[in-house]
Amino acid sequence: MASPLFLCILLVVFGSYLSTISAAGNDKESFVVVSTSSFQTQDVCSTSTSTVMPRPDRAGAVVPLLHRHGPCAKSPSTDKPSSFAEALHRSRVRADYIMSRALRGRGTTTIMEGKVSIPAHLGTSVDSQEYVVTLGLGTPAVEQVLLMDTGSDLSWVQCAPCNSTDCYPQKDPLFDPRKSSTYAPIPCGSDVCKSLQSNHLGNGCSMNDNGTQSQCGYRVQYGGGLKTRGVYSNEALTLAPGEVVKDFHFGCAYKQRGADDKTDGLLGLGGAPQSLPVQTSALYGGSFSYCLPPVSSGTGFLALGAPSNTSGFSFTPMTDFMDDGTSYLVKLTGISVGGKQLRIPRKVFEGGLIVDCGNIISHLPSTPYAKLRSAFRAAMAAYPLIPSDDDDTCYNFTGYSDVTVPKVALTFTGGVTVDLDVPNGVLLDGCLAFTESGSDGYVGFLGNVQMRTLEMLYDARGGGLGFRAGAC
Ligand SMILES: *[C@@H]1O[C@H](CO)[C@@H](O)[C@H](O)[C@H]1NC(C)=O
Ligand SMILES: *[C@@H]1O[C@H](CO)[C@@H](O)[C@H](O)[C@H]1NC(C)=O
Ligand SMILES: *[C@@H]1O[C@H](CO)[C@@H](O)[C@H](O)[C@H]1NC(C)=O
Ligand SMILES: *[C@@H]1O[C@H](CO)[C@@H](O)[C@H](O)[C@H]1NC(C)=O
Repeated sequence: MASPLFLCILLVVFGSYLSTISAAGNDKESFVVVSTSSFQTQDVCSTSTSTVMPRPDRAGAVVPLLHRHGPCAKSPSTDKPSSFAEALHRSRVRADYIMSRALRGRGTTTIMEGKVSIPAHLGTSVDSQEYVVTLGLGTPAVEQVLLMDTGSDLSWVQCAPCNSTDCYPQKDPLFDPRKSSTYAPIPCGSDVCKSLQSNHLGNGCSMNDNGTQSQCGYRVQYGGGLKTRGVYSNEALTLAPGEVVKDFHFGCAYKQRGADDKTDGLLGLGGAPQSLPVQTSALYGGSFSYCLPPVSSGTGFLALGAPSNTSGFSFTPMTDFMDDGTSYLVKLTGISVGGKQLRIPRKVFEGGLIVDCGNIISHLPSTPYAKLRSAFRAAMAAYPLIPSDDDDTCYNFTGYSDVTVPKVALTFTGGVTVDLDVPNGVLLDGCLAFTESGSDGYVGFLGNVQMRTLEMLYDARGGGLGFRAGAC
């Protein structure tokens, strides 16, 4: 099965791990003792070449996948990593965006109740993608640091010329299509351009500078007021040294609003024709996988193409959310905390979970959320809760050198049980990284905190969503 078409982008995993993890206490299997020093943000990007080796059937060059705020990011954020409250807010706005996009044109206005709202005063980017990948664009290739997003399709990069009113400040120089020998705007009448309309991404036509060609306009409107528009274009995309996708369609972005990210653009990994995996499906089969590193100083990977041997994965069926063609939906059937299965009627999970690497925190319907929260609080009763107006579950670990955290496991359709990483797949900033999505039966979200250290395989061959533990 090893085929030359089979591309992988592997990753170097830098060794920044929890300083202490050991089995503990009364139930060795169900609780993990974590050193509180592992909760500190690490400022140094280790350049150690010690790697977690990818599976042997993955050969290829290395493209690291980083945490947006991590020290290994090429353009690390100068801002402090977001607080839990901010993460929660971003996460809710994000959820609202995905929901409203799926409902577009359906004449339905509400499906979620109350929990999700967009404050009008929020002008900053609240679209909460968190992980970046570095790819080469153009000829010669220029490195672009792009946010990874399974919740949208069209990839875009800020392009020169663009002034500070129209483009947000980014760390790297703007991509300049005039300096690339392979850049070409996509003509307006082309099928590629017409296909944008059907995904609500079209934005008419514009003439090039000398008025000789009509170019294809694109436009994406995300949650929280973030917008981008520009010229839909063809360009060479270098995924890894020697691994070049000719004629990659992306948006050369000339007008952005509401963004405060320092990255150069966004990489769309959704299920519609504009996304990277779908555009390259003739080359790599349309499947892709990634592993999000557990801590901000770590590195994970993004790989295009399914591994030939998937014996290390557990698969659950996957569909797209409300036939929106973009979002990936799976179904949760149960939750356990500290080895104890919570008693939750199956029915409340009926809305499913959108698998969204651009969303930080997982959202569950009201009953499973309440049961998870109370079981977690009971298991963590030894530690002081920080009082909060919201119903957050945040702990003050000051004075503790280590903390005993219960394992949390999610079970999906098909009996696939996934142990979340402890503590990084469960706690964010000392807070339980779950929130309520709405009433029982409503759709929820599987956020990127919960995906940490798991290889998530989006199998375009109909295999569904695969999970592989301990992948980065
Ligand atoms: C920025 O560029 C746009 C488009 O070229 C132009 O309309 C706008 O006036 C410019 N703004 C400033 C402050 O130069
Ligand atoms: C007009 O611009 C295009 C690129 O945008 C270029 O290929 C073409 O040669 C130009 N034509 C003239 C007459 O300058
Ligand atoms: C797939 O990998 C597993 C180990 O992960 C190995 O035991 C098995 O033999 C492999 N199967 C094939 C067909 O190579
Ligand atoms: C955490 O606990 C310490 C002492 O135990 C206290 O000084 C500090 O104010 C607490 N912090 C919060 C946010 O409650």
